[in-house]
Parts: sequence; structure tokens; C-alpha cells
Amino acid sequence: MEGTNITDPIPLLTHYKMGKFNLAHRVVLAPLTRMRSYNNVPQTIAVEYYSQRTSKGGLLIAEATGVSDTAQGYPNTPGIWTKEHVEAWKPIVNAVHDKGGIFFCQIWHAGRVSNSVLDQIYGCFFDDQDIAPEPNMKT
Ligand SMILES: Cc1cc2nc3c(=O)[nH]c(=O)nc-3n(C[C@H](O)[C@H](O)[C@H](O)COP(=O)(O)O)c2cc1C
Repeated sequence: MEGTNITDPIPLLTHYKMGKFNLAHRVVLAPLTRMRSYNNVPQTIAVEYYSQRTSKGGLLIAEATGVSDTAQGYPNTPGIWTKEHVEAWKPIVNAVHDKGGIFFCQIWHAGRVSNSVLDQIYGCFFDDQDIAPEPNMKT
């Protein structure tokens, strides 16, 4: 920021240019897994959930969103690997954009802690899968 000293505090409610995105303020919605996307399909309720948290020029990061069948670490988390998923996301994204929000999708693969049942179906994908992750996780 011009005309400021390096030790000056930066108020949260000031503009920030993040690459090509012009954020109106520095309060960001952190990604929060909700486990409400039954069978990995984002639900209509997410339109309200994300709209409520949208402000004009504010950045939202969507909950972690699976990139494949084998990416799952928790049940009922949203996916973005089928047309059905993409179509289900559209009204949610549109609602955020309609309120002037900037919406990032956080894509994930749970890697070594992905559901072990999936290994039985699809086979092991990770060289280090035989090293147990700590602590134990239950899904
Ligand atoms: C219920 C819950 C779900 C979360 N889901 C995600 C997620 O999907 N992706 C992610 O990167 N972080 C996730 N987090 C981490 C939060 O984004 C993180 O807690 C938040 O950024 C605050 O940071 P702190 O826990 O270091 O204070 C989750 C946290 C909680 C409590």
C-alpha cells in the first residue's frame, strides 16, 4: 500500500489485489468440510449456505471437493468429477457470483487416508500406503 510504513497495521476491511482478483477486504471463508453432499453430489442447501457467507468482493474457498471416486476421505463430501457434480455446483457458484463473491474450489484427494474400502475395489495407488498414517482416523 502506498503512503504507508511497513510496520503500519493493515485493516482487514481494506482492498487487496490477489493476482487478477480484486478483493474488497481480507476476510476469507476458509474451506470447511460439511459432509452434506449426499453421494458426493452438492445439494441445494449449499446455495443458501454459501450465499449467506458471501459478501461483495469477498473470497470464499469451498469445502474440499473430491477429484475422483478414489479420493474420498470422508463420506458425503462433494465431488467435481462427473457432469452431475458439475451441474449441481452451478447454482451454488451462480448464487455466490450473483452477490459479487469470488469463489475458489478446493480440490482434494485424501491420499493415504482415503477410504480403505476403495483400495479393495480399485487397488492401491500409493507407494507408501503400507505405512500406517497416524493418528488412526475413523470415517
Ligand atoms: C469442520 C471443519 C472442516 C474443515 N474442512 C476443511 C476443508 O475441507 N479443507 C481445508 O483445507 N481445511 C478444512 N478445515 C480447516 C479449516 O479451514 C481451518 O480450521 C481454518 O482455516 C482455521 O484454521 P485453524 O484451524 O488453523 O485455526 C476444516 C476445519 C473444520 C473445523
